[in-house]
Amino acid sequence: MATPVKRVTINDIREMKQNGEKIAMLTAYDYPTAKIVDSCNIPIILVGDSLGNVVLGYDSTIPVTMDDMIHHCKAVVRGAEHAFVVGDMPFMTYHISTEDAMRNAARFIQEAGVQAVKLEGGITVADKVKRLVDCGIPVMGHIGMTPQSVNQFGGNLVQGKTMAVAQRLVEDAKALEQAGAFTVVLECIPKRLAALITQNLSISTIGIGAGPDCDGQVLVINNLLGLTDFNPKLAKQYVNLKDIMSQAISAYRDEVKGGQFPTKENSFIIDSAVLEQVKAKLS
Ligand code: KIV
Repeated sequence: MATPVKRVTINDIREMKQNGEKIAMLTAYDYPTAKIVDSCNIPIILVGDSLGNVVLGYDSTIPVTMDDMIHHCKAVVRGAEHAFVVGDMPFMTYHISTEDAMRNAARFIQEAGVQAVKLEGGITVADKVKRLVDCGIPVMGHIGMTPQSVNQFGGNLVQGKTMAVAQRLVEDAKALEQAGAFTVVLECIPKRLAALITQNLSISTIGIGAGPDCDGQVLVINNLLGLTDFNPKLAKQYVNLKDIMSQAISAYRDEVKGGQFPTKENSFIIDSAVLEQVKAKLS
């Protein structure tokens, strides 16, 4: 019998902070991508609600629904044998009441099979975070430029440049730690503020646009692979898959038009006698 693959646990993630081992987290939204990410020893895969922007063609994360997330989380879970998979709770699925937050988080764990949920906000969601953790659901926090509040922020703007907002972000991070979150994403905040928060938390920080001093980093995989039309300042493109895909698709188109594809190698054979019998029936 094959040895079962050991899945990364919340304890491994805690240990990484203690050992000063940087955490490279990535998003994924489908089975084949999750399989590749998993095979590259990425310890945490986030099925982000960035799904809305990079996969579903929306201009924000706000239209993403619970059913969208559950569908994509299931695919990622099927592809990720080793990584700790986190499902992103969509807009307004954890704000209305604690019961609502619990019911929706339970769907992520029970129906989709992820190991944890992520929700945006600090002090304002800390009570819900605590209830989820008390029920045995690991929670990843997310503060700073939280995309579900884009309309409240008036755009995707860096947060924490003023004393009031910077102080508030420190308090938000502390509230999440106290509520039992196992890690917190810091998005689009000044790097020295992110470093300060990181030094003052016992849980790990995962940065995106928050500088190099966080305990880990996260990127939206479509940005990393060059599959998006626009790459924000906070992202790094490591390859231009859009160009590679366009070249391959154009080559296929040209070969179909020119008759070079399919060849003998791509075709199946029939016994001549069988074909003759079919022909005879036609005449
Ligand atoms: O939805 C997402 O992909 C995220 C990451 C950018 C942290 O929330």
